Amino acid sequence: TRKIIIDTDPGQDDAVAILLALASPELEVLGLTTVAGNVPLDLTTRNARLIAGLSGRDVPVHAGSAAPLSRKLVTAEYVHGKTGLDGIELGEPVHPLSSEDGVGFIIETLRREPPGTVTLVPIGPLTNIAAAFARAPDIVPRVQQIVLMGGAYFEVGNVTPAAEFNIYVDPEAAAQVFAAGVDLVVMPLDVTHKALTSADWVAGMRALGTKAGDAVASWTDFFERYDREKYGSAGAPLHDPCTVAWLIRPDLFSGRRINVEIETEGRYTTGMTVADWWGVTGRPANALFIGDVDRDGFFALLSERIATLP
Ligand code: BDR
Ligand code: CA
Repeated sequence: TRKIIIDTDPGQDDAVAILLALASPELEVLGLTTVAGNVPLDLTTRNARLIAGLSGRDVPVHAGSAAPLSRKLVTAEYVHGKTGLDGIELGEPVHPLSSEDGVGFIIETLRREPPGTVTLVPIGPLTNIAAAFARAPDIVPRVQQIVLMGGAYFEVGNVTPAAEFNIYVDPEAAAQVFAAGVDLVVMPLDVTHKALTSADWVAGMRALGTKAGDAVASWTDFFERYDREKYGSAGAPLHDPCTVAWLIRPDLFSGRRINVEIETEGRYTTGMTVADWWGVTGRPANALFIGDVDRDGFFALLSERIATLP
């Protein structure tokens, strides 16, 4: 099994990613750390506790950074709803909140576990990861891999014409993480916009007749509205679950090892992942940039695993 920490700003697609991880025996989820992103930190933390509670698994939830390193927080209620997890009423969280903060938890965990055995899975803005690396540079070489959702290249941006949301919200943090020298796997919009739910798949989730199946169906129904109105696409893009699915079944994905730099000062392009897909710069590769997914295989994996939850 592979040990992971999921750093998250739930978000319906974050929620599906977390459930997939908690339902997968290949992965040991050491903790969830929350970050401000889709909605402010108090709500992403509340949502993480609701999701952990729903899973029935004993996973610690740690609250991380309330704001980007040096910018004002930009949120996305227009996609995820007022709570960040609109779609189904889950009541008040009973799952406990750990007293240790998220950045401290990332640092302590990487120091405690043997080097090269903990993978970070950031599926929100990269604030906590950059803050942990800045506060404790000794942990950087101990990270096994970072498998993140963020960026866009051929598919371009979803929050500005050039930038994807997670990178745009905290480009300084992203720049630090991409320059850290850690082995990176990147799930940009290029691949996540191919991981679109279908009406049949959502119906299958609901037909499970479980709390988890109901929640996944309701979340994706809610989340789909935005993409349908905005892009005219049928189906909700399951961005964040691509990271977890890659950890379980990398054979479902394909991409290239390339150089990716983060624009932090562009007049129109702040937050852009400048991806050297054609190798024109000669800069060394720092990321495996994923471009494609076996959609049917991906949704089959999700169905199989979500079906094991209560
Ligand atoms: C990313 O932004 C968030 O809205 C989603 O949860 C995902 O992590 C997609 O751009
Ligand atoms: Ca997210």
